[in-house]
Amino acid sequence: MNALTATAPAEKLLPYQSRRTFAIISHPDAGKTTLTEKLLASSGAIQQAGQVRHRANQRATRSDWMEIERQRGISITSSVMTFEHLGLTFNLLDTPGHSDFSEDTYRTLTAVDAAIMVIDVAKGIEAQTLKLFEVCRLRDIPIITFANKVDREGKDPVEILDEIASTLALDVSPVVWPLGGGVDFKGIVDITAGVVKRPNGEVWKTFTNVEDLARDNEFAMDPVIMASLENLELARAGFPAFDHEIYLAGHLTPVIFGSALKSVSVPEMLAALGAWAPEPRPQPAEPKPIEPNDPKVSGFVFKVQANMDANHRDRIAFVRLSSGTFKRGMRLKNVRTGKDMAVSNPMFFFGHDRELAEEAVAGDIVGIPNHGALSVGDTLTEGASIKVTGIPNFAPEIIRRVRLTDPMKAKQLAKALSDLAEEGVAQIFRRMVGADYIVGVVGQLQLEVLQSRINSEYNVPISFESINFELARWIVSEDKAELARFISTNKLEMAEDKYGDPVYLAQSTWWLGRAERDYPKVQFLTTKERH
Ligand code: G4P
Repeated sequence: MNALTATAPAEKLLPYQSRRTFAIISHPDAGKTTLTEKLLASSGAIQQAGQVRHRANQRATRSDWMEIERQRGISITSSVMTFEHLGLTFNLLDTPGHSDFSEDTYRTLTAVDAAIMVIDVAKGIEAQTLKLFEVCRLRDIPIITFANKVDREGKDPVEILDEIASTLALDVSPVVWPLGGGVDFKGIVDITAGVVKRPNGEVWKTFTNVEDLARDNEFAMDPVIMASLENLELARAGFPAFDHEIYLAGHLTPVIFGSALKSVSVPEMLAALGAWAPEPRPQPAEPKPIEPNDPKVSGFVFKVQANMDANHRDRIAFVRLSSGTFKRGMRLKNVRTGKDMAVSNPMFFFGHDRELAEEAVAGDIVGIPNHGALSVGDTLTEGASIKVTGIPNFAPEIIRRVRLTDPMKAKQLAKALSDLAEEGVAQIFRRMVGADYIVGVVGQLQLEVLQSRINSEYNVPISFESINFELARWIVSEDKAELARFISTNKLEMAEDKYGDPVYLAQSTWWLGRAERDYPKVQFLTTKERH
């Protein structure tokens, strides 16, 4: 399919088939926020790019932990932005860019059907991009790559393609190519659409065969353009042509070179997303996957967030619908608890603005206010006992003991930790020997947020103490006797997670390696699916 000429599909689609639910993944500073703004502006959803950041600043004053967001200039919480374009409804799930909040980001990726990967052409694939990509790969999420900042000096485009292909073990296919770069940036070649554009977006040339561009008289006079066209030939010879099926299977990424800041290749990015990104896909579930065209409503909670608005101390569960047509007021069953709930105030979001959701279909995200009935990983249905699978917990990278300053507040602490664990702010473990609470997070900043929220929202002052453990692993084994033997031999290093599943706390990788060698029948897992 041709990205630029993509228009609203001619045949009548079922409502869910017009949904494109996606996320943007990147390393901090690669340009995710800028691209988000420009995509929204290009679709006409916002009048002026800059509103996303503006909204983020506004909301940041609302509570203490958001204050932390504001001070650090980072985005901790994920929100949803919905916009219409080309007859399609795009749901963009924002993901926190800061590496400290990757766990939340990971879970958000369970609720999308496609992703855009933004990389900085001067830096290539960076650590956080790689981690997020790996999560996309777990679910074969198809990815379009936006190689950003071509208006600045960067690596050679062929080198960028090589780096993506070799680092991610993924096929790459250039679809929008830069002519020159940095101060010598002259425009882009949209290979699939047959258009050359100037940096200001003006159509410069059209073509049928990309090879003919090198024979263009105007181009022949410009050594920068000729070098880029030669480079493009090299790239086309060395990398596969775009193949929609292989992209959909998650094995090939089309690459668009552009500049989010200068709005270069942003319309091409939006067109490619509309033309190529998949409609809602079947949702992995037990006993069988949920088909999006199943008439019965089902969905799952991928995120819970409290106090989005400090004026209404609320708690919102973000639900990705997997099937059916949801209508406001419907009664849905939480399969985990078996309890029914009337969903009378479901909400749609645009950033942190919200409106009542009257109707939603597969691919849509609705926010359900609740007082603790819904946890991350919960499945909601019209009654069927289906359980959505594949929503992971990730092994924490920082482990600390919680120290309660006022021992009279033990009960409030338990409640605070349990609530915040449900939100996914941190993971909470209870040691099998002694009653210490241990928290596990993937980054230092998460600890600060946790401490600040427990203090301000539950009025429980706490601090964190270092503890002699560096790693946490969930342990499972087919051989129950072996598992029991491991647990009883290592009682001092054992803890339970929130669901009572055993977790081994290791002092170092050396100890973990030793445990793995000594107990070959026990598996030490870095991720665990939510119950
Ligand atoms: P992030 O959300 O991925 O963290 O990145 P963000 O969009 O905030 O962009 C990070 C920095 O990179 C910003 O500059 C932004 O202006 C710049 N940037 C984004 N896209 C481009 C591009 O295509 N070309 C160039 N040259 N720069 C780009 P900053 O100075 O850190 O912030 P600001 O003061 O400009 O907001």
